Amino acid sequence: MRFVLACCYSLMLIFSGAVQADVAAGQSTYAAKGCIGCHGPGGKSVIATYPSLKGKQGDFVRKNLLDFRSGARKNPVMNAMAAGLKDVDIENLAAYIGSLK
Ligand code: HEC
Repeated sequence: MRFVLACCYSLMLIFSGAVQADVAAGQSTYAAKGCIGCHGPGGKSVIATYPSLKGKQGDFVRKNLLDFRSGARKNPVMNAMAAGLKDVDIENLAAYIGSLK
């Protein structure tokens, strides 16, 4: 059921012309923006103070990146990181990180 809903939602996004999430682009952004340096290759952090992102849901990643960017969630490092992300970057990062199993 969830899968069906997810498909409907994706189709809605495609047909509405909204930003379409792209896992491969998200992976490039993850490396290019330096996320990989703290959160680790494949989202598995090797530094205890940086949370692993592997296993986090795409929706969770999207919401938190938006909150870091708007300042609703405060953390000096992540507020600075998220400030440089465009909406499309956030969608792609959410798709990529959400796909990590
Ligand atoms: C310099 C290190 C550093 C870099 C670079 C970095 N992060 Fe983070 N990130 C952190 C830290 C530290 C936290 C925990 C913040 C807190 O405690 O609120 C965090 C938290 C997060 C969270 C929330 C995780 C959770 O479990 O609540 C997400 C999502 C995230 N980062 C994504 C990213 C993305 C995407 C990038 C690249 C654009 C990135 N981070 C770059 C250090 C970093």
